[in-house]
Amino acid sequence: MLSTGIEGLDAVIGGGIPEGHIVTVFGAYGTGKTTFALHFIHEGLKNGEKCIFISLDEDERSIMDTAKGFGMDFEQYSENIEIIKLDPVAVKESMDKVKNDLLSAIKQMGAKRLVIDTVSILEGLFDEKDRWLALSHLRDIIKKSEVTAIFTSEADKYSQTTSKYGILEYVSDGAIALKYIRKSEIEEPILALEVVKMRRVKHSRKLTPYMITDTGIRVLEGAELF
Ligand SMILES: Nc1ncnc2c1ncn2[C@@H]1O[C@H](COP(=O)(O)OP(=O)(O)OP(=O)(O)O)[C@@H](O)[C@H]1O
Ligand SMILES: [Mg+2]
Repeated sequence: MLSTGIEGLDAVIGGGIPEGHIVTVFGAYGTGKTTFALHFIHEGLKNGEKCIFISLDEDERSIMDTAKGFGMDFEQYSENIEIIKLDPVAVKESMDKVKNDLLSAIKQMGAKRLVIDTVSILEGLFDEKDRWLALSHLRDIIKKSEVTAIFTSEADKYSQTTSKYGILEYVSDGAIALKYIRKSEIEEPILALEVVKMRRVKHSRKLTPYMITDTGIRVLEGAELF
């Protein structure tokens, strides 16, 4: 099991993320997807593991700054981390090359943790039948490399328990929904997460509140929502 590095979360997902699994973390804008992924990487770096962060939206500088803002200093681990900004259109056009490069990068580096933030940007460039194919190929490549991966995705516009295109949940071993819960229009919304899937793991399905603070995400395990 790999710790997520997020306070209170490992207990909710049954101890952590099993090695070699792909877990998709999805939610609306600002729910903390990138922050979640940064914690996962930072935890690896603290353990001396090699990590790859592939970003399809923010550039390397912005990723480093966001991490720093939460007190995660990636610079001191520069030997163990690769932050790669990829242009989603270029990725789509040379999917085979990207997959080969990714596999050899993971192998060469001996990477233990991988993040792809935000996979749904890439998904959006494919039509429905090619989307499934592209994602399952990506999954196969990652499975071959034995790395443990976090994918992030936007959520469906109407259902917070579904990723934007509804495919990543099937392609991944685990899926965690980050949600805004509104008691009423005039009250401040609460953030809460739901583990919708975690293969081979005994996990809770309870909606668990979390906060984003100066040190990142803190899951309020055992707290009542209302
Ligand atoms: N110090 C802080 N205290 C409280 N909330 C914070 C703090 N820093 C960031 N946030 C909140 O966390 C959010 C950023 O989270 P993050 O970038 O991880 O979200 P995201 O789901 O990746 O968003 P996007 O879909 O835009 O990429 C901010 O929009 C803000 O609401
Ligand atoms: Mg983000």
